[in-house]
Amino acid sequence: MTILVTGGAGYIGSHTVVELLNEGHEVVILDNLSNASVTALSRVEQITQKSLTFYQGDVLNKAFLQKVFTDHPIHSVIHFAGLKAVGESVEQPLRYYENNVTGTLTLCEIMNEFNVKNLVFSSSATVYGDPASLPITEDFPTSATNPYGQSKLMVENILSDLYQADNTWNIARLRYFNPVGAHPSGLIGEDPNDIPNNLMPFISQVAVGKRDKLSVFGNDYNTHDGTGVRDYIHVVDLARGHLQALKKLNTNPGLVTYNLGTGQGYSVLEMIHAFELACQKPIPYQIASRRSGDIAACYAAPQKALTELNWQASHTLEDMVMSSWHWQSNNPNGYSD
Ligand code: WQD
Repeated sequence: MTILVTGGAGYIGSHTVVELLNEGHEVVILDNLSNASVTALSRVEQITQKSLTFYQGDVLNKAFLQKVFTDHPIHSVIHFAGLKAVGESVEQPLRYYENNVTGTLTLCEIMNEFNVKNLVFSSSATVYGDPASLPITEDFPTSATNPYGQSKLMVENILSDLYQADNTWNIARLRYFNPVGAHPSGLIGEDPNDIPNNLMPFISQVAVGKRDKLSVFGNDYNTHDGTGVRDYIHVVDLARGHLQALKKLNTNPGLVTYNLGTGQGYSVLEMIHAFELACQKPIPYQIASRRSGDIAACYAAPQKALTELNWQASHTLEDMVMSSWHWQSNNPNGYSD
């Protein structure tokens, strides 16, 4: 089948394209390269020895989207394109709502015009806000504490309304926990613009000597060692979850929602220690004040995806840190090397 992958040059997108190509799909990528490198796509072709079609452009551009749908028999869409930095979203809310919400509206309009109604949407565990208990199941209440999370929640609600209005749509809303790690080849990985917001890329940049030390945002949380606990999931596991979601859409399930997590939480200090074992060097850190908007702990109940998608994460914490280090040590400056 021909799959359109918006944001397909990005971190999760590129790893998903590898799995799609390996499974024999034709892949068309649309990416504006605002937070991605076209080098990632040549690396994807190198890994898979398969070719892909790439359009540099924006999901906000209707005419451009119409050209893509005219040129290719798109069967389904995986929609990654969007902005994802929580702190930046607080400073630039309109930019986040335009890219994440209006971009999705435009995409759905054109999909409707071409009668393409299979959509996998990149949502986030951030829609759960600060959960009242753990682990988190898909029926937990949703809320948002920042424009990024709000934009994800808005799109989830828009997609629900779209399905209620036209139940010929098949839509999978995938709520990612914390994606980390890299493809075992070391050829593709996470390459954030500027200073990394997220823990793992910051740790790996300290390990490779790009950053002096890590700030641990608070060690006074109500967790086993006082630092934040998250459900880190290997990006290859996450990518494979998208292929299972695509298969699910072929059974005409309508609107479905899944947590993509491991069900296991690790603290910041545990991640630091695991990474030190992987890179065989100390990761210098300092305890800093809590980051506003952070929650103490968050991890998934992953059973629904196992039951309904026949999917579960299989990579270990060691796989996550080893693959992350393999990518970073081979590419100290990411794709700009
Ligand atoms: C993890 C833990 C921090 C950086 C966010 C988004 C989520 C998703 C993943 C897009 C926390 C601590 C971090 C640092 C630290 N993004 N930390 N020092 O905040 O769980 O989730 O990114 O989809 O939607 O909300 O991930 O990696 O930023 O933080 O101590 O320099 O590491 O306090 O406990 P987070 P994170």
